Amino acid sequence: MTAVDARPESTATLRFPEGFRWGTATAAYQIEGAATEDGRTPSIWDTFSRTPGKVRNGDTGDIAADHYHRMREDVALMRELGVTDYRFSVAWPRVQPTGRGPALQKGLDFYRRLCDELRDAGIRPVATLYHWDLPQELEDAGGWPRRETAERFAEYAGITAGALGDRVATWTTLNEPWCSAFLGYGNGVHAPGRTDDADALRAAHHLNLAHGLAVGALRESLPAGSEVSLTLNLHVVRALTESAEDRDAARRIDAVANRIFLDPVFRGRLPEDLVRDTAGVTDWGFVRDGDLAAIAAPIDSLGLNYYSPTVVAAGSSESPSPWAGAERHVRFLPAPGPRTAMDWPVDADGLHELLTRMRDELPGVPLVITENGAAYEDYADPSGQVRDPERVAYLHGHLAAVRRAIEDGADVRGYFLWSLLDNFEWAFGYSKRFGIVHVDFASQRRTPKDSARWYAEVIARGGLPS
Ligand code: NOJ
Repeated sequence: MTAVDARPESTATLRFPEGFRWGTATAAYQIEGAATEDGRTPSIWDTFSRTPGKVRNGDTGDIAADHYHRMREDVALMRELGVTDYRFSVAWPRVQPTGRGPALQKGLDFYRRLCDELRDAGIRPVATLYHWDLPQELEDAGGWPRRETAERFAEYAGITAGALGDRVATWTTLNEPWCSAFLGYGNGVHAPGRTDDADALRAAHHLNLAHGLAVGALRESLPAGSEVSLTLNLHVVRALTESAEDRDAARRIDAVANRIFLDPVFRGRLPEDLVRDTAGVTDWGFVRDGDLAAIAAPIDSLGLNYYSPTVVAAGSSESPSPWAGAERHVRFLPAPGPRTAMDWPVDADGLHELLTRMRDELPGVPLVITENGAAYEDYADPSGQVRDPERVAYLHGHLAAVRRAIEDGADVRGYFLWSLLDNFEWAFGYSKRFGIVHVDFASQRRTPKDSARWYAEVIARGGLPS
């Protein structure tokens, strides 16, 4: 690959630690397509995306980036980038079409081939077991608000680890359970599109339980030395002012967005203020004896997805909102500064803040940035090039923040750029492009953007041009 035009003159490098993992990330429903092939059944996202009005332009993941058929080409792209690791997700409805019972060999075979291809390219496979594609049958039986879904997930985790455990280096149980619970069952912006605050909180608990039970199942099936992890999208919550009321608004959101996962997983307890704040919604009677101990099963690292911070003040928000009643006391404000195509503020300091908070609150827990990146209005110019200087600037700023956090003592082991490819961006369909490789969805042609060349250079140097 040729160097990016905007490359700074200086060859000095802000180096990252030896052995730092440089990766890219994707998720099954967002790239695979092949929605009905080899026995795969519908997930909640197939159903949701086919429901008129739920996804922009009526887009679905039926074809997506056709990765199911182009996996070799996509691994070859990563080999060219020089990434050390690749984070992908396993589609539950490919492996266990009804969400229960024996595994489907053909589904597992796809991921076996992917891992073998990665091995041949010298890339470590990092597998996420749940990136939002719940088998529809399990949703029909009650979905995440129902306890049995957690038990089914642990069974699926054990089966998948048994089949792929010799090939996958790192296992992540869940991706962003906050989104599954609160966007899926709270404000209904994500599949399955339900809107019930109590169900959102039940879902959050059962996702935590699913994680804990799956950790147990993974430990039983995996060879020694495998890494077991969880990925959270912790919110960097900032109070608008130092007033007691605004700080209390920030505390409420921190409880329902962050500590609702962190406290059970790392301390085996529910945050007392969360239980108090949500008393009008639920009495948490669905939490059974032993659940919190199961959820607190030790894990080897914590994955963090970071995009932008959240600013709050005392007040109230429009319903429906995803915050399980907390919004009745909280106003959300636009953060200042430049924005991405998602209208998300660009704020790299938030990533430093998040990493140093985790350094203080979770000493001894290795951290991995499992997602960070940005959507911009990318297009191929007449010469066929995709120039994306804003993305390069975004990535540079955020990687510099990671390096600063490492200098300040945060134990950050790796960085996975979201995303390798332009893909199906959930409720936004194909209208938002997060890839460092452009995908022309009509022809499925892949074109590395300038940011891909920039990232390859960062990896080759082991750090950022200063
Ligand atoms: C987090 C999710 O894990 C991923 O699926 C999504 O595409 C990105 N954020 C960008 O919204």
